[in-house]
Amino acid sequence: MTLFLIIFVLAIQIHFSNQDVIDSVLRSLSKGITYFDMQGRNINLDGVVGYIILQAQLQEATRTWPHSDFLGLSQRAAAISMLKRLNKSLSTATSSLQETDPKYFKEFEPILDSSFWSVPAGWSSTDPSLVYSSVRSVECYDEHLSDKCITLLLGTWKENGTPCIVTKYCRDTMTQFGCPHYSLSHQLLYFMIGALKGCPRMLQWDLRMSRIGLTVDHYKRIFCSNMMKSNQEMFKEVQSLTGQMQDIFIENILLCGLVGFSDFYKLDWLQAILTWQDQEAGCFGKEDGCSSHMTGIAVSTLGGFLNFYLSEQDITKRPII
Ligand SMILES: *[C@@H]1O[C@H](CO)[C@@H](O)[C@H](O)[C@H]1NC(C)=O
Repeated sequence: MTLFLIIFVLAIQIHFSNQDVIDSVLRSLSKGITYFDMQGRNINLDGVVGYIILQAQLQEATRTWPHSDFLGLSQRAAAISMLKRLNKSLSTATSSLQETDPKYFKEFEPILDSSFWSVPAGWSSTDPSLVYSSVRSVECYDEHLSDKCITLLLGTWKENGTPCIVTKYCRDTMTQFGCPHYSLSHQLLYFMIGALKGCPRMLQWDLRMSRIGLTVDHYKRIFCSNMMKSNQEMFKEVQSLTGQMQDIFIENILLCGLVGFSDFYKLDWLQAILTWQDQEAGCFGKEDGCSSHMTGIAVSTLGGFLNFYLSEQDITKRPII
């Protein structure tokens, strides 16, 4: 009887502390959306994509918000009003992108729609045994290459281009092991976009003996296990991370979280990210003030934390005591 009581009290405490976490995430998101409201016209494509992913996250959150008490209802109402504000600023921001850089806009138009992005249906964890024995000290390729490979998947490499093209060069680069930082996260992004675009058999031409049998899911797990390692190392020196390191740290959580690796949604990582926000401006960025890339990545990552904590809080998914 006493044991049941203790478990019951613990369950209630978890419930309340999750709601506190959700409150802090919502407060931070509200500031991030205010920043976007003011600066939306000056934000580059990367930053806007972050807010589009947030739109998808908020739509999912408001749709599936667990039925709960008064606090839960008022949090959901706050999320709905944020989504309305976001919808409005997004239409201004996307039309301004279209005017300022029509070519780049066209190339990435498919991912500038929240229906392109989906929130994971189930969760899984990374595997430390997949960590590379050594990692290159320099990036494996630059972002123009990954942009090019992604437009080949999206079919936007020319007017009415065929989608899901995987050239040998893209495949070799995107499956290379031992890449650090952005080249590692963009390898994951490449396979993620291929999957979201519905590209079948992205690795069908991969006949190298050593790689036979590795599927897209294997690669996602390998990349995220290495991104986990990299985040754990960065977190050991969390007080002294440069702006760029913070950016990579957040981007790793965003991408692996979207792929469904819930071990990236750590409470102490969330708390660190929340302290990186400029409380006045609502943006993220360190050395030179607001970075629209980092702000977009940060708000969409917070949207990922929101959906994860909501799924944790959902009493219908908790064991009955
Ligand atoms: C926001 O926009 C999306 C799609 O653009 C739409 O489905 C959704 O209903 C809108 N939500 C609100 C609260 O206005």
